[in-house]
This record gives sequence, C-alpha cells and structure tokens, in this order.
Amino acid sequence: MKRVFSGVQPTGNIHIGNYLGALKQFVELQDDHDCIYCIVDLHSITVPQDPKALQKSILDVAALYLAVGVDPKKSTVFVQSQVSGHAELAWILMCNSYTGELSRMTQFKQKNRDRESAPAGLFTYPILMAADILLYDTDVVPVGNDQKQHIELTRDIALRVNNTCGKTFVVPEGRFLKAGARVMSLDDPTSKMSKSNENAHSRISLLDDANKIKKSIMKATTDSEGVVRFDVENKPGVSNLLSIYSAFSGTPIEELEKTYAGSGYGDFKKDLVEVVVSNLAPIQERYKEIRESQELLDILKEGAEKANAIARPVLERVHKRFGLGL
Ligand code: TYM
Repeated sequence: MKRVFSGVQPTGNIHIGNYLGALKQFVELQDDHDCIYCIVDLHSITVPQDPKALQKSILDVAALYLAVGVDPKKSTVFVQSQVSGHAELAWILMCNSYTGELSRMTQFKQKNRDRESAPAGLFTYPILMAADILLYDTDVVPVGNDQKQHIELTRDIALRVNNTCGKTFVVPEGRFLKAGARVMSLDDPTSKMSKSNENAHSRISLLDDANKIKKSIMKATTDSEGVVRFDVENKPGVSNLLSIYSAFSGTPIEELEKTYAGSGYGDFKKDLVEVVVSNLAPIQERYKEIRESQELLDILKEGAEKANAIARPVLERVHKRFGLGL
C-alpha cells in the first residue's frame, strides 16, 4: 500500500478551503492507502501563539479530522511535537538545503512582506515540512494548491540527498483535487481563503452555524453582470462560488451553469447556503460528540506511538547515511 502523509496547522478557524483542498482527500485515500495525518503544532509556532489557545486548537483540529471522517482504525492521527524525529530530521535537512531556495518560497515572501528581519523558523518552515513528509517514506501528499512549491522543495531535497548519500528517501508526489484545490476568499476572490483574514465573512469555518454561513455567502463578492457563469478571469467571485457548490454537491460546474441560466445571483446563493449547511451539519454533529471525549486523547496517544515506530527506522537509515552517532 502506498504511504500518505499530510498535516494541518492548529491555528483555529479551519475552513472549507482546508476541507475541500485537503481534509476531503484524507478521507478518500484511507481505504486503499496507509495514511498518516498530523496536527503540525511545531509549524504553528513560526508565528507567536498563545499557549492555552494553541492547546485548545490542537484538540479542535484533531476532533475535526475525525469529524470529517478520518477513521483512526484505518489512519494514524497524531500531534507533530509528540514525535521528536520531525525536529531532528529537519535539522539534518537544513544542512542540505540552501538559503537561496528558501528565499524563493512565495509563502515566506508574503508572510514576511512588511518585516526587515524574519524569525528563522518562518524562513526554514518548508524544511520542517519536508522532514514531516520524508520521515515516513511518504509516496503521496494530499494538499491544496498553495503547498505546491513546498512539495517541489521536498522533492528537490530528497533527490539531492539521494544523489549525494545514496538512496535514502522516497521521493513523494503532491496530490491536488480539481475542484477545491484553491478556494478563494469570499470578500476578495482574487486571494485565497485563509484562517488569518480579519474578516470572518471572508471564509466559512467548518464550525460556523447556519446563520453565519448564510450571511457570509449572501455578502460574498460577485459582479454586476448577473449571469451565473464560470469565468475566473472576469468573474472570480461567481466562479469561486460555483467551484464551492460543485465541490460540495459533486455536480459538475457546466451543469450548475445550466441549472442557474436565467436566474439571478440571489437564488444561486440561497441554494449554495443550503448545500454548504447540509454538508457541514453532520461534521459539526460528530465534532460535538468527539471533542471532549477521552477517546480523542487515546487516539492521539496511540497515533504518536505508531508514528514513532514508523519514523525510527527511517531516522536510523538517515543517521547511517550521514555517519551520525555510533
Ligand atoms: P495549512 O494548515 O495552511 O492548511 C492545511 C491544508 O489546507 C489547504 N488549504 C487550502 N486548500 C484550498 N483552498 C484554500 N483556500 C486553502 N487554504 C489551505 C492547504 O494546502 C493544506 O493542505 N504547510 C502546511 C501544513 C503542513 C503539511 C506538512 C502539509 C506541514 N507539514 C506536511 C502536508 C505535508 C500548511 O500550512 O497547511
């Protein structure tokens, strides 16, 4: 079975972009792949975090993994900092990476736009991500489009080490969905939906209630043409809503265009509200059942043990290749 690895940062506000771009794939893959899903808390401290809020967020994301359908009997679910091999391998990979390639990362450039000096962790963030992936001999990494460059870097580092030290790492492939790989912000459909946008109506969080979802969708930016048509360049707002509708309902975009030919944005948006609310309701129901349970903590503990057991021989192999230790 092919090995799958992916992760989500525990930084609150997990939204439908995270779901449609990544979490939905986590569930799809687990029947015929060996899946490892991580809550990447070490990544989240590249920007300052309140320790109490971070603790809560870690469990929130873990509960959401299970609520969307990740099955701990099929998949390994754990918290990154519980497996020390991530940080250790990151150091070794850092010694095999270049500042030039890191300074080309667009996410770093965006996050660092207004600063003279960046925290070193923000700069080396993609290497920790490479370590996450390579530590488990991962074949497939299901993610949204925004992670494409990081996956490319991971492949470059793996190939570089393999070339200089002999075959050490499995070279992974990214997996991106057609619909959902890049869900855009509802208030500004030219930028991606994000957890950190100050405007809560720019996103739909997985735990938003029906009222909030309705408000966010009804407020969503469209255009003055009044025609429900997919045209990203000229109609980014309507195109984004069509993509969301299609990803949640499974109805192809062309069919949606036909259904809404002749109707205005109001009717289209009202139906989209229903589609989103009805898809999120069962997730929210399961989340409530799991979030405060002892079972959640047990699953994470067992997950960390399983992850450690998979990581150990890979780390030993890496040590050997580099001549580390005794
Ligand atoms: P993070 O926490 O920002 O996002 C988690 C996942 O959601 C996807 N995503 C989106 N997909 C579609 N539309 C959007 N608007 C959108 N926003 C986010 C992301 O692509 C991601 O798949 N660096 C990663 C976390 C990470 C990781 C890893 C992922 C750390 N180590 C190893 C895979 C493998 C991140 O910050 O994701």
